[in-house]
Amino acid sequence: MTILKILTYPDQTLRRPTSELDNIDGDVQQMIDQMSETMYDAPGVGLAAIQVGWDKSVLIYDIAAADQDRSLQVLINPRIVDQEGEILSEDEGCLSVPEFRADVKRYSSILVKGVDREGRPIELEAEGMLAIVLQHEIDHLKGKLFIDHVSALKRQLYTRRMKKKLRSK
Ligand code: NI
Repeated sequence: MTILKILTYPDQTLRRPTSELDNIDGDVQQMIDQMSETMYDAPGVGLAAIQVGWDKSVLIYDIAAADQDRSLQVLINPRIVDQEGEILSEDEGCLSVPEFRADVKRYSSILVKGVDREGRPIELEAEGMLAIVLQHEIDHLKGKLFIDHVSALKRQLYTRRMKKKLRSK
């Protein structure tokens, strides 16, 4: 098992926009396996490649409940092609933004297009929890973090807290 290091705020790599993946080879499959081991170990419900320093448009997620079987989903080169409505994502969090949670406004329904890990086209209609997770992970692929959706003041306070913590290490 390989657990990759998850980059955390304010690491600037997290701000790097990712590029599309056009060749899904064995190395990519191996990287996806390592991402999934890392996500389950954390544990988290979603992980974008850039969070482990890989600047490709790849995300994984599993929103199965704790008492259900694992259901790993892989989405490559995803893009939101349609969106509507509004939902408040309560207490949203991120493995790359430790010790911070906030309510975030998200679209309640989205339509996502991309390809799966075999390169087959996928079209996904998502609502509720799944829509929130996908918007969060697709943001990562553009170098955006959920903390960018909260007020500048909250973000400043958090940044100060994290810098202090880094200094005291
Ligand atoms: Ni995240």
